[in-house]
This record gives sequence, C-alpha cells and structure tokens, in this order.
Amino acid sequence: MTRLNWGMFGGGEGSQIGPAHRLGAQADGNFVLAAGALDVDAEKGKAYAQSLGVIADRAYANWQDMLEGEKNHPDRLDLITVATPNSTHFEITKAFLEAGFNVLCEKPMTMTVDQGEEIVRVAKASGKICAVNYCYSAYPMVRQMRQMVAGGEIGKVRLIVTNFSHGHHGDATDADNPRVRWRYDPAMAGVSGQFADCGIHALHMASFIAGDEVRSLSADFASTIDSRVLEDDAMVNFRMEGGTVGRLWSSSVAIGRQHGFDIQVFGETGGMRWASEQPNQVFYTPVGGRTQIMEKGESGLSDEATRLSRVAIAHPEGFPLAVANIYVDLAAAIRGEQRDGLPLAEDGLRSMAAVYAAVDSAVQDGKWVDARPPSFR
Ligand code: NAI
Repeated sequence: MTRLNWGMFGGGEGSQIGPAHRLGAQADGNFVLAAGALDVDAEKGKAYAQSLGVIADRAYANWQDMLEGEKNHPDRLDLITVATPNSTHFEITKAFLEAGFNVLCEKPMTMTVDQGEEIVRVAKASGKICAVNYCYSAYPMVRQMRQMVAGGEIGKVRLIVTNFSHGHHGDATDADNPRVRWRYDPAMAGVSGQFADCGIHALHMASFIAGDEVRSLSADFASTIDSRVLEDDAMVNFRMEGGTVGRLWSSSVAIGRQHGFDIQVFGETGGMRWASEQPNQVFYTPVGGRTQIMEKGESGLSDEATRLSRVAIAHPEGFPLAVANIYVDLAAAIRGEQRDGLPLAEDGLRSMAAVYAAVDSAVQDGKWVDARPPSFR
C-alpha cells in the first residue's frame, strides 16, 4: 500500500486539536505528513513542521505560500487538513478544492450558510472529497447505535436528548486567555460561540444516529460572562424531518463537567445511551426489559462497530482513535473505495444552517425557524 501525502494548516505546537490529527492521520500508516503551515507565527510554524519531519522546502509560512508551492509539486499532496480557527476555514478549503486537493476541514466548516453552500458546490464541481471532522461519529459504539436504529432494533425514533456541556470556559478571570477568547469573538468564531463550537457536534450526532436530518429548531442563547459577545450556553429544541423530537443543551460554563458529550436515543421499542467519557459502552434497554451494557470489541456487534474497534475488548479506546477512523475512511475514499458514514461538506453546511437558525431563533425569544440550508428545502 502506497502511503498518501498529507498536508496540514494550523495544529501548531500547543494547539488543542493538532495532536489528535497527527495521531489520527498517521496511526495506520495511511498518511505521512509531507507539508504544512502549522502556526499563525510563521517562523514557529516552520520550525515545528520540521521538528515533525517535514522537509524545509515544504514547511510554509502561510496557506498562500503552501498553495503556490504545492499546486504543481511532483510529489503531490493527497489530502490537506484545515485545523486553524474558524474564520480561515472557508478561504483555505475553497482554494485547495479548486486547486484539485482533497480536504478534511475542521468544524464549523464555514462562518456563514452562503459559504457552506459554496463549499458544497465547489467540492462537487472539483470531484474531490471535502470531509468535515465530526469525529465523534467515528467511535465504534456510535456506529453500533446507528446500525441498530437502521436495523429497526428500537423502532421509530421518538426522542433524542443530547448534551455537549463542559465547564472549561467558566472562569471569568480566564476569559481573556487567547485560546478561549477567539471562540467568543464574532470576527474569529462567527455568529455563534458555544453552539457552533460544541453544539453542532451533538446535532450532527443526532442526525447521524437517527439517519434523519434536522428540519426546524427553537433556541435560547445566553452569555453568562459579561465580557462575551457570543453565547456560552445554548438550549436548542429541534424537530427532524421524520418527526423525531430533539433536545440539546450545550454549555461551556458548566463547571465540574469535563468533556460532557452524551446522547440518548429513545425509540418505540427501546432506548440507548452513549457518553464520550465512557465511549466503549452503549447502554441499551428494550421496552419492558432490563438494561444491557454493550461493550466495544465484544462479539455480535454490527459490522461497522467491529471494523472500527481498534483495541481489544476492555482496553480503553481514546479520542485520537475516533479521529484516526476518519482518516482511515478518507484514505479509503481517496483510493476510490466507497465509505458510508464519512461526514462530508453537506454535513458541514447543515450545521451552518442550524447555527444561523439558532441565532435567528434566539433573538426572537425562541421562535421556531426552518433549520435547513436553502438548497435542502
Ligand atoms: P487552538 O487555538 O488551540 O490552535 C489553533 C492553531 O492554529 C494554533 O497553532 C495557531 O497558531 C494556528 N493558526 C491560527 N491561524 C492560522 C493560520 N492562518 N495559518 C496557520 N496556522 C494558524 O485552536 P483549536 O482548539 O486547535 O481549534 C482549531 C479548529 O479545530 C477550530 O476550528 C475548532 O473549532 C476545531 N476543533 C475541533 C474539534 C473536534 O472535536 N472536531 C476539537 C477542537 C477544536
């Protein structure tokens, strides 16, 4: 198997998501880091890229130089990952798709719905893959839930309750920390803070497991720390195309909660629960029956849960392995194999439409609004 060449934007030394991408991309020998513009500080980024094995010529100061240097490079990049702050995703993703590269973009994919529509259009026209890093959907036991729903094992899904709430931005004295501040700065983050940062993971997960899409929503946003322009707490009620009722709470000021992402799916004949802090288990209760704990790696799981289980039963499976599963499927897709479940630009666009709908709803005291992108109505 020939290794695929991989390039990266952002994810510099000390960044939050950079290490998960590097572990995820390179874990299976599919990708090798060949080029990068890793840091907003050009010299730091170049030095760091070289410390990771990138040759000096392919360690770039910024994405424009990298586009220039890579577009006709004989040792062409097969994939580039965009892991910079939100405001840069659109221009980098668009430019590299147009230049004929496959892209994995961090969420939120864009700052606006129009930009999301543009990315979906450019990706289609280029014939290249544009994936979005909804990595939680690549946990094996999330795939198990999805396949159980698709197989009718809990009947029609009536209700989904999901939370993505942590307390890591709850300290008002730390609100000016640059790592925290950009997430609530409209120029860097967009129209929404916490909902666009974490809430859309939960919303994507609801759609992913239910096999359905969000149609409308009603939102209540709050900024609980005075200096913040954007919300740090969001309560969003939603309805799916097939009638499923959804409840979503996303907060960054829930002090004491660590990662805090969980989802409960209640159908006509059973219910299921998964939490990112115990990602190896799904709690499943058939109607009238006892709760069973399904464990990653055990026999009898769905084929997707089995395929994506990387470590033996009872050994913990971590977040970078979920990101690694995204890269496994990207490598397969780049090599021309069909992969179901890879989150694509359409998923990124749906999230942007949901973010704009939630902002619109929140300023109208929770009025129900259409949450679908114009092109999906
Ligand atoms: P961060 O602030 O920890 O790190 C950002 C990195 O990008 C830094 O190394 C910075 O120097 C670099 N950077 C900034 N502008 C750049 C530019 N123009 N060119 C090259 N490098 C640049 O941010 P974090 O938390 O790593 O987030 C980055 C992105 O990843 C965000 O869009 C965020 O929403 C997303 N993210 C996704 C997660 C997931 O679960 N899928 C989890 C955490 C973040």
